[in-house]
Amino acid sequence: MPDASSFYITTPIFYVNDVPHIGHAYTEVAADVLARWHRQAGDDTWLLTGTDEHGQKILRTATANGTTPKEWADKLVAESWQPLLKTVDIANDDFIRTTDERHEKNVQLFVQRLHDAGHIYAGEYEALYCVGCEEFKPQSEIIDGTGEYEGQKVCAIHSKPLELLQEKNYFFRMSEFADRLLALYESRPDFVQPESARNEVIAFVRQGLSDLSISRSSFDWGIKVPWDDSHVVYVWFDALLNYITAVGYGQDDAAFDRRWPGTHIVGKDILRFHAVIWPAMLMAAGLEVPAKVFAHGWLLVGGEKMSKSKLTGIAPSQITETFGSDAFRYYFMRAINFGQDGSFSWEDLAARYQAELANGFGNLASRVVAMVNRYFDGVVPGAGAYTSADEAVQRVVAEATDAADASIASFAIHDAMSAIWRIVDELNGYITIQEPWVLAKDEASRERLGTVLYTAAEGLRALAVLLSPVIPVATTKLWAALGASALGPLEAQPLRDAGRWGQLPPGASVSPLEALFPRIEASSE
Ligand code: MSP
Repeated sequence: MPDASSFYITTPIFYVNDVPHIGHAYTEVAADVLARWHRQAGDDTWLLTGTDEHGQKILRTATANGTTPKEWADKLVAESWQPLLKTVDIANDDFIRTTDERHEKNVQLFVQRLHDAGHIYAGEYEALYCVGCEEFKPQSEIIDGTGEYEGQKVCAIHSKPLELLQEKNYFFRMSEFADRLLALYESRPDFVQPESARNEVIAFVRQGLSDLSISRSSFDWGIKVPWDDSHVVYVWFDALLNYITAVGYGQDDAAFDRRWPGTHIVGKDILRFHAVIWPAMLMAAGLEVPAKVFAHGWLLVGGEKMSKSKLTGIAPSQITETFGSDAFRYYFMRAINFGQDGSFSWEDLAARYQAELANGFGNLASRVVAMVNRYFDGVVPGAGAYTSADEAVQRVVAEATDAADASIASFAIHDAMSAIWRIVDELNGYITIQEPWVLAKDEASRERLGTVLYTAAEGLRALAVLLSPVIPVATTKLWAALGASALGPLEAQPLRDAGRWGQLPPGASVSPLEALFPRIEASSE
């Protein structure tokens, strides 16, 4: 079993045929929030992301743009995919490209080992291929075309015509792994999550598995098959291996043992590759299967899966330029149940920004900091005797911390957000009822005023810690304004200990706090 505290989490690696849209950024943010949470909780965390650069799709795009696939990939990685990480504030530990030498070399090693162990054979193949999916399509995903594609077979996902390919290929004996895969899903019910994804995978494998074509010979943009350089490795076989080549497979056993097995966050459209093909590949190689495969849903725009090819694509910067990276991260983690489809709309984003971030949280922070400045000259007061109202706040903070951590452990990011938001609501209600501005008018209530403001400031301290994986920019500002830096940097605060009351030291110097989520003028969309 892996070391209990090791948490290696991956995003899918992204095709560089096009620029990122908010669906890609959504996957990135979810994995990053989970990684930041675990990292801050003290787990030995590693977040991997990267790009998928081989295959026909990239080759065709590069050719259509009058360039080579490598030049095209270099340009897209430098100008679009690396910058995406900044746009939505991803704290990844590594970025792998499938054109990296560490990857190419060890893909060859892996394929050779499978070949040597008898898991690969040469055969003839004729089937319908979707270049959009980079996959030979199963019958269930082939439909009749309509409109301009009338009379042709099209891909159910891309609605584009399939291509009939006929070539000599190398095959992986995947059919031999169906029983072991079913036993895996049975013995580890949380291996594929959520439940709907698990059921889909089990039903698919129960129908029996075919062998998998793992090489192509009609083009050469890929990793050469080591024993036959007229073939390149099938792009998905190549791509899946990034999860192990990035952490030392074939070259650094200590790093590999430390990180692997990993947890994969994927969109539901690529679930089968990760929950069927990938574990079968690992079983064949005698390696451990992943710790977990979690499939999230699609972002829908106007009821359809958002995609560039269907012209519903929205660039992440369109949102962050107006609302900021924190709001992007907050919105998608809060508004969509992780694991289900969710609709994006500008109206919903703007409404949540205003109600939850600006009025709910931002205003709370500004008011409390301003009152400590005004009534206590910027010094956090000590608390006197606690009343039951104060103790209720303490209880909510402790419970919310535990509930949020439990939700994160089960990948229910949206539930973690709701749990944490109980503190925001509790503190807002507390201040309304305690009316510190009334207490401030009477010198006799000075001690009570101190207790109320300490309670509010300490509640904000806990909120800053709990929300830092989601809204790192705003919480860092709040941390500094609260004078909490005396406790060390925000990202060093042990997350699972955030609910322990009384950490903010009385006497800490509070400094003014600019609006964390400023009002957005209506013109912005
Ligand atoms: N290159 C493969 C993955 C290889 S992993 C070994 C790939 N790339 S992709 O760029 O097409 O998609 C990457 C991720 O973005 C997938 O998880 C996919 O589900 C996700 N999304 C693409 N469009 C999306 C939405 N509209 N909504 C949510 N996620 C979506 O597949």
